[in-house]
Amino acid sequence: MTAKIVVEGGAPLEGEVAISGAKNAVLPILCATLLADGPMTLRNVPHLHDVHTTARLLAELGARVGDGGPGVVTVDPTSVHSQVAPYELVKTMRASVLVLGPLLAKYGHAEVSLPGGCAIGSRPVDLHIRGLQSLGAEISVENGYIKARAPRLRGARHVFDFASVGATENVLMASVLAEGRTLLENAAMEPEIVDLAECLIAMGARIEGHGTGRIVVEGVPALRAAEHTVVADRIETGTFLVAAAMTGGRVTATHARPDTMDAVIDKLKEAGAELDCDGDRITLDMRGRRPRAVDITTAPHPGFPTDMQAQFMALNCIAEGVGVINETIFENRFMHVNELLRLGADIRVDGHTAVVRGVPKLSGAPVMATDLRASASLILAGLVASGETTIDRIYHLDRGYENIEGKLSALGARIRRIR
Ligand code: UD1
Repeated sequence: MTAKIVVEGGAPLEGEVAISGAKNAVLPILCATLLADGPMTLRNVPHLHDVHTTARLLAELGARVGDGGPGVVTVDPTSVHSQVAPYELVKTMRASVLVLGPLLAKYGHAEVSLPGGCAIGSRPVDLHIRGLQSLGAEISVENGYIKARAPRLRGARHVFDFASVGATENVLMASVLAEGRTLLENAAMEPEIVDLAECLIAMGARIEGHGTGRIVVEGVPALRAAEHTVVADRIETGTFLVAAAMTGGRVTATHARPDTMDAVIDKLKEAGAELDCDGDRITLDMRGRRPRAVDITTAPHPGFPTDMQAQFMALNCIAEGVGVINETIFENRFMHVNELLRLGADIRVDGHTAVVRGVPKLSGAPVMATDLRASASLILAGLVASGETTIDRIYHLDRGYENIEGKLSALGARIRRIR
């Protein structure tokens, strides 16, 4: 039997919650360690299933991955002896495709299984492949594997058709060891890309413009060992702030990075929350009030993140008024809707748009998690539903949230994990 989470709704959240390092930053950074000529030390690494899977993948390639104490992971890539990322590991986590760029740049060849991952729509890797081809790689797809070869990559100008996060990361990691200058245009601007670039710079890479749509890289012959502290998880932060807003509570997220989450903070204010940012602390106060419904359109950063869409849908479910949610990034990212309906929500979906009419009360029921952020939205809904909500298939949750039930119960939520 798989683990489940049981939530008993009704308690307003109060207190402080320490935010972990960002899943979406640490995964590419772990892959980037392959580029170093010595042992890397990463700090603020969250304890997540996806991190564990990436560590297994690095170990499979021959890297020595070590535990340097709480939140510290060391990776010595000097013992890497394989450039093949097998299907068994890649299928469980799409981000494994991010070893392609580093392996190709460092060893001149790589084979990576086509990825699986979350069932949130078809997620091809054509943009990754085209970017690497621009740098001179020869790439074929055979027997379910991407096979890439290039004795030495050459810097080039590449314009992404779409500002894909993963493609930008893969091509950026490949370009740092390419010969000459690479210009990446229409690059993704997510804070996690900035964090990856900063780690690469600490390793000796020459990168400018990260965090904008135009990244300029001067290739270097080799990269050295370095230390890096992973940026705070803006999605985890946003999830706790939405939980506070929905329950009419007051929560301070500490170790956070408010400057990476303007769109989410603005929407929380629009929903009627009082927000106060002070250094790495964000306090949300919604005591005594019901949220107002907000309209949302997901977009690449600095737009509203698709990874916060499901949580804001949960908020709209119990808000005053009607909120329209437009999902523009992924094709099939409304799988939480049917589960929210089971809790008494009023949601109508038409293509990429969901119209959510707030109801005064949700009522607890057994529901099923379908992907990572969908699971979070079900917990949020459970926190305000009357009675018990049991969420099945929470392994999705463990891929991306560190100890979510521990952190929520420290804020006063009635939540427990059962087997
Ligand atoms: C990353 C995040 C994920 C987030 C997403 C969008 C990680 C590990 N995951 O995923 O949490 O939801 O960004 O912010 O960082 N696409 C193509 N061809 C490609 C690549 C992407 O068509 O080669 C499409 C995808 O199918 C999707 C859209 O582009 O519809 C966005 O994908 P992308 O930005 O690449 O997301 P990921 O890097 O997979």
